[in-house]
Amino acid sequence: MSGQIIDGKRISDTIREEIKRETAELAARGIRPGLAVVLVGEDPASQVYVRNKAKACEDLGFYSEVHRLPADTSQENLLALIGRLNEQTGINGILVQLPLPKHIDEKAVIDAISVDKDVDGFHPVSVGNLTIGDDSLLPCTPAGVIELLKRTGNSPAGKHAVVIGRSNIVGKPVSLLLLRENATVTIAHSRTPDLPALARQADILVAAVGVPKLVKKDWVKPGAVVIDVGINRLETGKLCGDVDFDDVAQAAGWITPVPGGVGPMTITMLMSNTLKAAKRAHGIG
Ligand code: GUN
Repeated sequence: MSGQIIDGKRISDTIREEIKRETAELAARGIRPGLAVVLVGEDPASQVYVRNKAKACEDLGFYSEVHRLPADTSQENLLALIGRLNEQTGINGILVQLPLPKHIDEKAVIDAISVDKDVDGFHPVSVGNLTIGDDSLLPCTPAGVIELLKRTGNSPAGKHAVVIGRSNIVGKPVSLLLLRENATVTIAHSRTPDLPALARQADILVAAVGVPKLVKKDWVKPGAVVIDVGINRLETGKLCGDVDFDDVAQAAGWITPVPGGVGPMTITMLMSNTLKAAKRAHGIG
């Protein structure tokens, strides 16, 4: 073991303390950030995520409401709820937990959320603003990756970042954020030839593919920063990332564990987005 561990739980706790302080300042001005979470159906993992989001709101002094709709809810019903939440002044952020049941068009639902309340950063206008470098609410997991890098003194500027994965939720937005931070960015995916050789060129290697323990020690340049966005459940029930942690930690300079690396940052960045949206709604910041 030579790599230093990037402690996502500790960094996440620090950011939550910062958010708590700002929330108290807003409270003194009569402003309380509000988040609405919408869950359709009874997927057990989604239920846990939704509970954790409501709990985070409570801990930070935010207002929150959770809308639980049955799995057979019609798309019209869901769109009508989003329409009401878009108009509701005490609500600054709207999060519709994904995935949605098959009969609902996910894109139509994301498009219906007001851009000002798009705390997931998934709306096409938010994505467009990120792409052209305008201010926008940033997707939570990619924003968390950037915070982990900056808060461990690993500024992306001038570095070669290789991102493995090109999903709309992580791979593409994290690549754009790294570019915005002045890294030179390569996006790799399942059709990239000789992935290990490409990965070995990275000063910052981000793995977001959903393949357990794909990245091995010989994929990593000695001293590189390795960020593991993967959360995979093994047959044993244990969680593991896209990086073979014990192997890669021998070569990496810095490495995120799974769990306890990127994971804790996602809800924290959701809270940060909700705070930002609340401030904007009141013409602050
Ligand atoms: N399901 C899994 N991750 C996410 C996320 O980041 N946002 C939403 N809305 N649903 C998810």
